[in-house]
Amino acid sequence: MEINRRLVVSREDIARRVKELGAQLSRDYAGRDLVMIGILKGVFIFLADLVRALNFPVQVDFVRLASYGSGAETSGEVRITKDVDLTLKGRDVVIVEDIMDSGLTLDFLRQHLNRRQPRSLKICCLIDKKERRQVEVPLDYVGFTVEHGFLVGYGLDFSENFRTLPEIYALEFPAKEGEHKK
Ligand code: IMP
Ligand code: MG
Repeated sequence: MEINRRLVVSREDIARRVKELGAQLSRDYAGRDLVMIGILKGVFIFLADLVRALNFPVQVDFVRLASYGSGAETSGEVRITKDVDLTLKGRDVVIVEDIMDSGLTLDFLRQHLNRRQPRSLKICCLIDKKERRQVEVPLDYVGFTVEHGFLVGYGLDFSENFRTLPEIYALEFPAKEGEHKK
């Protein structure tokens, strides 16, 4: 199947926005004990760039959650396949995510991490995708907002492909028979 893709965010725009988010976090967490928790695997490039845009050292950990099958549709169910190893009690924690879609993943993780009694818990999400929201989760730091579309690149995948593209693209799937292009 031939999948076309359309450029949505250039690498210059990503770099500029990551720098701004880094500066904002550096101001907000100056002198604090911050742990950043990335959600694997999609966040690996964003998180790597983000921690290097901070002007102070942080500790980093990862969780791996499963909610999507191999395609573009969510199953609605979230489970943990790799949990956090660092101690979070009494510490400032920022969850770092690549993209929020239905909101189910971040809603679940926020509740899960709150049980560890962090001093504070905030969310930094590269892309806020509005169209399919089921649960509203407040995002404290947002890179970009998009209405809809399936995005790939800069860590984001479609069935494990396209993660290493340096820009962010929207996939343009061929219309199924009987379906009309919007
Ligand atoms: P949610 O639980 O529906 O908010 O889904 C969040 C997760 O689904 C993200 O962490 C991504 O892994 C994946 N996801 C949602 N939308 C996209 C997309 O447009 N491209 C790639 N992955 C996506
Ligand atoms: Mg993800």
